[in-house]
Amino acid sequence: MTKIMDEGIRLHDFEPKADNFREEVLHGLTQPQKTLPCKFFYDERGSQLFDQICELEEYYLTRTEMSIMCQHVGAMTQLFGPHCLLVEYGSGSSTKTRILLDHLQEPAAYVPIDISREHLVRSAITLMMNYTGLQVLPVCADYTQRFTLPKPQTTAARTIVYFSGSTIGNFQPHEAQAFLTHIAHLCGKSGGLLIGVDLKKDIQVLEPAYNDARGVTADFNLNLLRRINRELGADFNLEQFRHRAIYNEEAGRIEMHLISECQQVAHIDDVSIPFNAEEHIITEYSYKYSLNDFEQLAARSGFKVQQVWTDAQQLFSVQYLTVSDV
Ligand code: AVJ
Repeated sequence: MTKIMDEGIRLHDFEPKADNFREEVLHGLTQPQKTLPCKFFYDERGSQLFDQICELEEYYLTRTEMSIMCQHVGAMTQLFGPHCLLVEYGSGSSTKTRILLDHLQEPAAYVPIDISREHLVRSAITLMMNYTGLQVLPVCADYTQRFTLPKPQTTAARTIVYFSGSTIGNFQPHEAQAFLTHIAHLCGKSGGLLIGVDLKKDIQVLEPAYNDARGVTADFNLNLLRRINRELGADFNLEQFRHRAIYNEEAGRIEMHLISECQQVAHIDDVSIPFNAEEHIITEYSYKYSLNDFEQLAARSGFKVQQVWTDAQQLFSVQYLTVSDV
């Protein structure tokens, strides 16, 4: 389970099960309302396109979260106190985490958790080189499944979980509650959660963020069909589908749709997938929260909102939650 890598890094590998891509795609496309799981966006090209989305003028999320982090990191790390264990869910390349690491007082260790083993090990090595003396304890796991935290050499004063990027928005409310409850148990009484949460706002700002003028998000969404063609030998005609993101006000979420431009039949080897003209595949939910919505979700999950940082326009929030006494 613990593997010592070439570079001397100790990887805690829970060997997350590879997704059954074919099975999950077929399942989603054979329902009355066709869906595809958003986790499949991120192949090589999809990850590159997502990085481009983060740079878009219309996509306010990344730069706003980044500027909130930069502006308030002192107050954040003050709340965490010295000798904390910093645990990051879905660490990716740990860009925002560096802001925290630059300010933390003698952290006990940093535990990046990611499902992508290669990416995880690569960025853990880079971090170890950049932060000499910092214990980096990468965990390869599907964080929605069971896993245990590695023990740092020095005992930690408290466990702080970091979950950035408003990834929580991809969960449906009941899933978000289950996930936050699991984190509350993991951090325990003295611990806390620092989480990036995108806020409800005018539809005139929300929809363009997911329907950018350059069509990068359209490319990102359509890339899912490209991936299905390549990896499953399917024959989706990308010219006959168009992207559209819709704000579902009632549900409080952006929905990413792929719309069939005509009546057509696609094939995933021997399985036929018929489409009516204008039929939609839903590929992603991105829930938006008011501060009050999120406070209630936190409370249902055993958390208390300790502090909220936002930008001047209240586009995005970074929130510090502590485990509430029950
Ligand atoms: C990575 C889930 C936060 O919902 O804004 C961006 C993904 N989808 N553009 C989001 C996404 C389309 C993003 N999250």
